[in-house]
Amino acid sequence: MTPAGELRELATEIAREAGELACARRMEGVRLAATKSTLADIVTEADREVEDLIRGRLRAARPHDGFLGEESGAEPGESGITWVVDPIDGTVNYAYGLPAYNVSIAAVRGEPDPESWEALAAVVNAPALGEIFTAARDEGAWAGGLRLAVTDETPAGALLGTGFGYDPATHDGDLATVRRVMPMARDLRRMGAAALDLAYVAAGRLDGFFERGLRPWDHAAGALLIEEAGGVVSRVDVESPRPMLIAGGRDVHARLRDILASKS
Ligand code: IPD
Repeated sequence: MTPAGELRELATEIAREAGELACARRMEGVRLAATKSTLADIVTEADREVEDLIRGRLRAARPHDGFLGEESGAEPGESGITWVVDPIDGTVNYAYGLPAYNVSIAAVRGEPDPESWEALAAVVNAPALGEIFTAARDEGAWAGGLRLAVTDETPAGALLGTGFGYDPATHDGDLATVRRVMPMARDLRRMGAAALDLAYVAAGRLDGFFERGLRPWDHAAGALLIEEAGGVVSRVDVESPRPMLIAGGRDVHARLRDILASKS
């Protein structure tokens, strides 16, 4: 097996275990642990427990790698590989009992900065939906035995996904962005779990996706899934506090980027 394939297998095994833990805790009932940037931006006790599990398993298997997690922050390593982890992406769905949440794990090479890192392996496990999406660099993206491919033709307009983040102060601006994008859309979906949105672009279930303000752990794994499924992911306004992530098949990505990179 290639080194990237080995990282994918390890991530898959850990994401499965993490997903089982998240599901089990969900059935026992969700307890809020804290709020973060705004009142709507929540952390559950399960987010922390699941991240602890993932961090512990990775440390045991690969003690020299770095770690960057949504809940417990960054720890540099010495191997040049960093694990970028969202233990429960879609926490609000999770808290409300909606099944669109996932465990997202990526292994990246280089500085743990999305502008420069090279993603090597990725897993998005949606345990309540019974689906696990995996990729390794140059080895394709997969869901079970099915190789993933982004869509390339969208004659009726593109089915697009987006998200709005949790700060009410940014909702007006995000809705104005939706208005600018709608002429190229056949419809819009807002599922509440960015890593799953990106996995769905890779699987051809969405034609494209855009969202401002995503953090590295929201898109690290999903972006590699899309690239390995033949799609394109880019970011604009990277110096702003809320960079815009744009993803899709080559054509949809280019059309989205034309709209979203231009100031209006
Ligand atoms: C959030 C989800 C949501 C997106 C937010 C993210 P979290 O991640 O991916 O869909 O709109 O921007 O922060 O907080 O549930 O891990």
